[in-house]
Amino acid sequence: MRALLFFAILAFVVSCKEQPKKADEAVSMSAEALAEQGEKLMTTYCYQCHNPNTSRESMLGPPMIGIKKHYITDSTTKEAFVADLLSWMKGPKEENSKMPHALEKFGLMNHQVYPDSVIIGIAEYMYDNEIEKPEWYQQHHREMHGSKDGTGHRHGQKKGDQ
Ligand code: HEC
Repeated sequence: MRALLFFAILAFVVSCKEQPKKADEAVSMSAEALAEQGEKLMTTYCYQCHNPNTSRESMLGPPMIGIKKHYITDSTTKEAFVADLLSWMKGPKEENSKMPHALEKFGLMNHQVYPDSVIIGIAEYMYDNEIEKPEWYQQHHREMHGSKDGTGHRHGQKKGDQ
């Protein structure tokens, strides 16, 4: 019995040790490859409703750039954003909305079920990359937030995101 327990513990320790290796492998994917993958996930799974190239009238939800601006402030870490997006996707609830105007305009987002890995990929892509902006966005942003140039609140985007 003892020996069995010992081996069980040993196996556990060994398997824990192996984990960082796996993580390293994931990290070793090049930044471009990751971005490409994240963009593909986002366009595949979210653009049905969040596509910035859809006309303003036909959009079924807010454009992704709007989501980014409301979810990521100067102090939002990547981990926090990933966690927020995961939590929203697990079950959209009115009381958790950070976009009350979108909620009012489009109605609560349907619960879409995707694997965590998909959401994480999308969140990391959104955090690290410039997000496509609809042509009408500047004006909309001005209407909603009253800033002259639509860059009213800078939420720590990388350059070119404004
Ligand atoms: C079938 C349409 C549809 C699809 C597909 C969809 N969404 Fe949404 N989403 C909406 C609508 C409508 C809203 C605006 C209402 C709201 O906020 O609940 C929204 C709002 C959001 C919000 C803001 C929530 C808030 O109010 O704070 C996030 C974040 C979001 N979507 C993420 C995603 C992601 C990520 C994907 C793809 C993995 C996705 N959505 C796919 C319809 C959709």
